[in-house]
This record gives sequence, C-alpha cells and structure tokens, in this order.
Amino acid sequence: MRITVVGRGRVGGGLARLWTDAGHTVTALGRDGGDATGADAVLVAVPGRAIAEALGRVSGLSGRTTIDATNIYRERDGSFPSLSHQIKSIVGGPTAKSFSTVFATTYERIPAQRVGPSALFACDPEARGITEQLIRDAGLDPVLIGDLDPGARLLEDSSGLTRAIAAHMGPFFTRYAPPGEL
Ligand SMILES: NC(=O)c1ccc[n+]([C@@H]2O[C@H](COP(=O)([O-])OP(=O)(O)OC[C@H]3O[C@@H](n4cnc5c(N)ncnc54)[C@H](OP(=O)(O)O)[C@@H]3O)[C@@H](O)[C@H]2O)c1
Repeated sequence: MRITVVGRGRVGGGLARLWTDAGHTVTALGRDGGDATGADAVLVAVPGRAIAEALGRVSGLSGRTTIDATNIYRERDGSFPSLSHQIKSIVGGPTAKSFSTVFATTYERIPAQRVGPSALFACDPEARGITEQLIRDAGLDPVLIGDLDPGARLLEDSSGLTRAIAAHMGPFFTRYAPPGEL
C-alpha cells in the first residue's frame, strides 16, 4: 500500500518504520505538510489541537481513507463528537480511529511478544479492511469497537483510564481475547 503519514513524531514516525519494514511505501509529512495524492491510506498522528492546521497543509487529501491515531488530553471545543469526526469533515473519505490505545514507546518491543498485542479500532465500514490490514502489518491484533460513531468517542474518552494505569505500570500492552486464547 501507499501510505501518507501526517505527523512524523513518536506515533507517525514509529508506524512509518513498522509499515516500511512490512513492505509498504510510506511518505511521512511533518509540520511543513506535503502531498497525499495517490495514497491508499492516510494516518493522522499530530496533537489533537493541531489537526486543522496540519491537514490544511496537505494537498490531495480529498476522499482518502484515513486512520486517526490522535488522543485528547484537554477539554474538547465541542464542535465535533470526536477528533475522528473533525478529520472526516476535512478529508471526507472513509475514516477509522486506531493506534490511540498503543504506547509508541512499546513499538520496538512488539515483534518480541508471544502474541500480537491488541489495537482497538472503530471505523466506517468502508475503512475496515485497510485498517485491519495496517494494524496487523504493525504486528498488532485488531479488536473492533464498532462504527466510528460512537466508537471514536469511546476510544478518546478511554485515554484517562489508560493514563491512570500507566502512572503506576508505565507504558503497557493490552490483550483482548476470548476465553482460552490468552
Ligand atoms: N506517544 C504515544 O504513545 C501516543 C499513543 C497513542 C496516541 N498518541 C497521539 O498521537 C498523536 C501524536 O503523538 P506523538 O506522541 O507522535 O507526538 P510527537 O512525537 O510530539 O509528534 C507530533 C507530530 O505532529 C507534528 N505537529 C505538531 N504540531 C503541528 C502543527 N501545528 N501542524 C502540523 N504538524 C504538527 C509534529 O511536527 P514536528 O516534528 O515538526 O514538531 C510531529 O511530527 C497525538 O494526538 C497523541 O495524543 C500518542
């Protein structure tokens, strides 16, 4: 797949490496923006407050399948039900939220795990196939929450719980599995 990553920090840069290792062609864009023409998927990995500014500097976005990895730490401005909805209002294509529950500092340890750690995701039906594929190609196990609405908001609202656990344990993996498969 051809993937454009918007934001090449810990999440964007880290996933770009994992996907390149898996054989994908990845273009990682920083603060200066660039062109996403021809991308099969666009990953958004910038601070939530910077979404409009970051996407405003990227051309060729219209209608692309987009995966939102952002988290929210402060109060929302209330204009959109979730950051994924904000991204969808700009890009206009099938949209998913994923990777928001996985600590970027754990990426390099994914290959050494006995089983793929879980990556929760919520998505428009048309974005499901690409999102599952890219989660697997990062070495993770896709766990569907449901549609973007209300799944994206559920994921964003779960970040407080994640941070509370990490305050004691440090960065961690999660594994959701049916009984007998842990
Ligand atoms: N770190 C994690 O473990 C983790 C896990 C899950 C989700 N997230 C979420 O993923 C997103 C990215 O986090 P991160 O840890 O990768 O952050 P990061 O390492 O600070 O990288 C942020 C990226 O966004 C770019 N950026 C910042 N402000 C921008 C602006 N106004 N316009 C355009 N680009 C801008 C930065 O560009 P420069 O390089 O030019 O500064 C950088 O490439 C955040 O929403 C975060 O909440 C993080």
